[in-house]
Amino acid sequence: MPRGETSNVADGLENVVAAETVLSKVDGEAGVLVLRGHLLQDIAGRRSFEWLTGLLWQDFVDRPLGGEVLRRDLGLARERAFAQMSDLLPATCRLSPLGAVRMLLAAVPDDAADAPLLLTASVAVGLAAAIRIRDGKPPVAPDPQSTHAADFLRMLKGTPPTPDEAAALDTYLVTAADHGLNASTFTARVAASTQASLTDAVTAALCALKGPLHGGAPGPVLDMLDAIGPAENAEAWLDEAVMRGDRLMGFGHRIYRVQDPRSDVVKAVVERLNRDIGRLHYAEAVEQAALAVLAKRKPNRSLQTNLEFYTALLLEALGLPRDAFTGAFAVARVVGWIAHALEQQAGGRLIRPQSAYIGPMPRG
Ligand code: SDX
Repeated sequence: MPRGETSNVADGLENVVAAETVLSKVDGEAGVLVLRGHLLQDIAGRRSFEWLTGLLWQDFVDRPLGGEVLRRDLGLARERAFAQMSDLLPATCRLSPLGAVRMLLAAVPDDAADAPLLLTASVAVGLAAAIRIRDGKPPVAPDPQSTHAADFLRMLKGTPPTPDEAAALDTYLVTAADHGLNASTFTARVAASTQASLTDAVTAALCALKGPLHGGAPGPVLDMLDAIGPAENAEAWLDEAVMRGDRLMGFGHRIYRVQDPRSDVVKAVVERLNRDIGRLHYAEAVEQAALAVLAKRKPNRSLQTNLEFYTALLLEALGLPRDAFTGAFAVARVVGWIAHALEQQAGGRLIRPQSAYIGPMPRG
């Protein structure tokens, strides 16, 4: 049978409901994100990443989960992660930042007693250390007294962030922490559904996040802006790109048919940080041009700005290297992967869909 002829194949699992979850609701028609009963807009910038982590892990992680307790314990976990991965760190010098984190996660034993904390800590500690080693600088040890966002920036840059920078990254981490059954979270649930370890589930999810159609988009957003050059070139450049079949990074979404609500949250953080208002205005002009081109060339699909477009500007303003943007996404999303993996193991079955065989049958 030719490919695509099987009637009941859900291409890309589009519109397939593959799990029930108490963790997050992504309403694509209304452009609303609910995180365990809270509208994103009500917590981003008002509640800490540690507070949200405790909320997501409630009922799944058997430990004290209050914001302050988690801040302390996540700080101690960063110290343990740094010690546990120290012998592996030198080998990261030849790896990409995400390749390094993928390797460093192996330092978290499958039976680690506090795996949720250690895995969450390891992504931030490993990413910061790997980038510094890649840049020929010594890794910076964690400060267990700090918040997760502030300590990540300090471990990355070697100096403490300003309160505004720490607040900006914390808001981003809250905004990107969980988002329904996106590809990497679904990957975490598939691995967890086999009763593999949390380390396995998080490592699998990290690999799925890496692709440019998913978490690999923010860095290429800046590459696209570089290629466009002056704003007056934008419409022609973007039109040519779409006409040759390119995907405009930072636009479109499998679920959102209106603008991704996270885009406005992150854009407001960029505005508040006020690092380079000209850069922001330039990005706004490119965004408008992209939306016009997509409406004209793809009239049958509502393609709007997603999380990644202004995330790219935010992480650039915070001084992260472009190839660390996906890693920063993982610093946030790891807590969602862990919550979903544990939810899957608490009540789910082995995830094993069917496939329609369209190859040749044996002769005779
Ligand atoms: C994230 O799922 C999540 O929740 C993900 C995420 C999360 O928090 O986990 O929100 C994070 O991954 C955001 C998305 C980041 N990726 C990008 O910004 C990359 C660019 N976006 C696209 O590749 C695309 O929009 C996807 C992959 C995000 C969604 O694509 P779909 O739903 O699979 O749609 P499709 O590929 O079937 O495209 C449908 C049509 C096609 O045109 P036709 O072939 O019908 O003519 O829309 C076009 C596509 O060519 N299209 C785009 C486009 N996105 C879709 N055309 C140009 N630029 C784009 N960005």
